[in-house]
Parts: sequence; C-alpha cells; structure tokens
Amino acid sequence: MSGFPVPQNDSWDLLKKECAGCYACELCRTRNNLVFGVGNEQADIMLIGEGPGEQEDLQGFPFVGPAGQLLDDMLEIIDLNRELVYIANIVKCRPPRNRDPLPEEAAACRGWLERQIALVDPQLIVCLGRIAAGCLIHSDFRITREHGRWFPYGGRKILATFHPSALLRDPSRRPEAFMDLREIRREYRALPQFIQSR
Ligand code: URA
Repeated sequence: MSGFPVPQNDSWDLLKKECAGCYACELCRTRNNLVFGVGNEQADIMLIGEGPGEQEDLQGFPFVGPAGQLLDDMLEIIDLNRELVYIANIVKCRPPRNRDPLPEEAAACRGWLERQIALVDPQLIVCLGRIAAGCLIHSDFRITREHGRWFPYGGRKILATFHPSALLRDPSRRPEAFMDLREIRREYRALPQFIQSR
C-alpha cells in the first residue's frame, strides 16, 4: 500500500471542502486558485502531473495550458479523453515561477492525493514526468531509464511516462512516449471491465 491514511466514509464533497481550505504549506500564499483535479470520478485510469502552471493557477483546472493541449493529443492516440480519465497533480497550488515542488510541499499535499486515488479507485495510475514518479514510485526514479514500466501501487498498477511539457521542450523523446502510450492502451484494454464490455 502507499501507506497514507485515508478516512473511512470519505466522500468527494468532504474531500473537496477540506482541500479548498488547505493552508498546509507556503504555496497557499501565492496561489490564485487551488487546482483540485478534474475528470471522471470513477475512472479506471488516473493521470498525475506535477503541479499547476500559470494557466492552471488562473483557471483552477489541471492541464489547461500548452502542456494540456499535448496531453489531450496523447490521450487521443490511445482512444482516451478527459471524460474517461481523472487528472490530478502532486501539488494543488502553483509553485512560484513553475519551480519543482519542494519535498515538504509534496508531502503536505500527499494526503489529498491519496484520498483522490482512494475515491476514484483506478486500476491504473500514470505519472506524468519525473516529479510525480519520484513521489509515487520511488524517490530516485530516473524517467529516461524507467519510463514505460508498470510498478505495483497498493493493489493498483503505476507507470511513468514523460511529462507533456518535457515533450514540448524536447520532441526527440516523443517516440519513446509513444511506446509508453501503447503500453498504457494495452494494459487498459486488458482490464476485466473493458474485456467484459466488448
Ligand atoms: N503541468 C502539470 O504538471 N500539471 C498541470 O496541471 C499543468 C502543467
């Protein structure tokens, strides 16, 4: 298991209400909006990014900036879309100047994320980028070496691929990301509920 406690009888209403009033780390001081998460609350697959950027902070939703456009394209490649997945971030408030979240910020936010994971109850989790992978898979995760591989995560499976922002900066990584997407599609289509609905 991930080892993070999740309240019994948790609910989306309770979680959203409690999270909206979070002042557990310094990021709350500079946020315009807390970016909770969005998507299908019963999704079989959950995507976890790093933290809100400028547009996300202004609009209050994850992946609405340039990286979000690429993420939509990536989802389309594997026949998914935002109605079929749930999207959240490691930290829910924008780190100033888009710096990496500090370990203490990620730790302060982790409880919210674990409660989201427990409520969505996805079979598959995809980390977008090394920050999410470092937090959720193992702390010295090397995205260039370990992307595209499934790891166990409390009865679920978790895989990391390149962050869409990294793919915008370095398109030479796109073929590797494409292979990861194919692997995600393969595993998704092998889920019992997917096979039964065919
Ligand atoms: N990058 C992220 O990791 N998350 C977002 O929500 C937007 C950009």
